[in-house]
Amino acid sequence: MQTYTLIAPAKINLYLEIIGDRPDGYHELVMILQSIDLADHLEIRPNGTQEFRLTCSHPQVPTDETNLAYRAAQLMKQEFSKAFANYGGVDITIDKRIPVAAGLAGGSTDAAAVLVGLDLIWELGLTLPELQQLGEKLGSDVPFCMAGGTAIATGRGEKLDPIEDLESLWVVLGKYQSLEVSTPWAYKTYRQQFGHEYVSDRPGVKSRTLKVHSGPLVQAISHKEQPKIGKLLHNDLEKVVLPEYPQVNHLRNILQQSGGFGTMMSGSGPTVFTLCQSQEEAETIKNKARLAISDQDLEFWVTKLSSTGVQVV
Ligand code: C5P
Repeated sequence: MQTYTLIAPAKINLYLEIIGDRPDGYHELVMILQSIDLADHLEIRPNGTQEFRLTCSHPQVPTDETNLAYRAAQLMKQEFSKAFANYGGVDITIDKRIPVAAGLAGGSTDAAAVLVGLDLIWELGLTLPELQQLGEKLGSDVPFCMAGGTAIATGRGEKLDPIEDLESLWVVLGKYQSLEVSTPWAYKTYRQQFGHEYVSDRPGVKSRTLKVHSGPLVQAISHKEQPKIGKLLHNDLEKVVLPEYPQVNHLRNILQQSGGFGTMMSGSGPTVFTLCQSQEEAETIKNKARLAISDQDLEFWVTKLSSTGVQVV
């Protein structure tokens, strides 16, 4: 049996609007998700045992069942018990390049890669929609991470509508290494502060999502109108994360002043990103921001927007 190497890209949110509560306890969202070239590398190797074993290059990443990639393997075992009995377990090695708890879907994309890898090793022949359906049981961002590109995501974030991609653009990401934001905390705090504004009726939810589908940001993306894209970036979670973490707000201001055509926090943060036209411009923005904030804890990445999700090497 073959060993597979997979590339699992991170995502940023170009748009994140919280519409209301869902009966399952999650939030009804409308987002525009964008995959980027910054990616984890996974190796999935049949190990001839009846076990899954996970190792990760990042000391803070758990390697037990609390890791979403491990849970992805367990889900596959549960769903395809015959294949597991035939082919056995695997060793999963994660070379972690995406920052952890950063709002970049690092855990979700690793889980997506494990689903793709086990489908290949166990010769299941699952389609992308079938793999995505399994993925949504693990996390709201898993289906998007599998497909990648640029997409409108609704429902919990699992219902996807691909749109024109923005592959040619570059992005600078900034994150304080020691700062992690809990996604459940961000949503819970948002509900406490803005729950009174939530839309609860189905037609209301539908009209809010349709507004984004036919709205100016999607149009600006399809026409590649960069200044418009920059102006229309939006993330409701900034309203709770930025006041709680003033250093993230400061980083956001500095990045915004350093160039590019749009700056925003990704997901529940604390990563902040700036979109720009070229690698050269991205490097200049990074250098300016580094000079403005001299903090060893602050890390930057320069990467390209991407049109692909999980890839087999
Ligand atoms: O789906 P995922 O496990 O990635 O979500 C992490 C947490 O984010 C959830 O436990 C929930 O607190 C919050 N969330 C939410 N509504 C969504 C997606 C996530 O409230 N649509």
